[in-house]
Amino acid sequence: MKKIVILISGRGSNMAALIEASRTGQLGAAEIVAVLANRPDARGLKIAADAGIATEVVDHRAYPDRVTFDAALAQVIEAHAPDLVVLAGFMRILTPAFVERFSGRMLNIHPSLLPAFPGVNTHAQALAAGVRIHGCTVHFVTPELDHGPVVIQAAIPVFDDDDESTLAERVLAQEHVIYAQAVRCFVEERLVIEGMQVRLVGSLQADDGLQASSHLHAPQLGSRAGSGV
Ligand code: GRF
Repeated sequence: MKKIVILISGRGSNMAALIEASRTGQLGAAEIVAVLANRPDARGLKIAADAGIATEVVDHRAYPDRVTFDAALAQVIEAHAPDLVVLAGFMRILTPAFVERFSGRMLNIHPSLLPAFPGVNTHAQALAAGVRIHGCTVHFVTPELDHGPVVIQAAIPVFDDDDESTLAERVLAQEHVIYAQAVRCFVEERLVIEGMQVRLVGSLQADDGLQASSHLHAPQLGSRAGSGV
């Protein structure tokens, strides 16, 4: 059984999707052992607690700098001896030492098709750039922000009448799909990192929704069907 620790800062909808995927067996042989937040008011904490998962707050405001905060956070994480650390809307820039410590076992989700649009306000960035295809990315975390080997991406079309909120809603629906897929692939030890590339190995479950050796989830390109809006 692989142990997973999830880090959040706010709403926690990706975390909630992972908890649900875990409950229904979609994460494979894995257990979410703890949810940690850097803010006491992170809404996701209640969702996790209601699901019977241990929660803890490591408030970044209680530490003088990033180095001491990251050291404290790492200690709390390590106490749960996780195989995988999942960043799910964790809005803190992490120090290289922290990232190195969890190298190869820490995933992040970002609401764009990286390397396009790193940072914040990704949907506004996509609209301003005029791209016709947008999406989200699950990647291994490296010291560079919103960078690192890509595990799975989901693509969605950008429509003429989209605004930031319609785009965000359709991307978020896909985040919830691909994060569970990526975590399951990790849990089943099917992810092999080769430089900036991740190879997907081994047999795939029929219900994965992923094509064999495909890292792309694009169920609705060109249509609004199944968009959840
Ligand atoms: C998501 O869009 C995620 O991609 C980004 O922050 C947002 C967090 O949303 N990193 P939630 O807290 O999971 O609802």
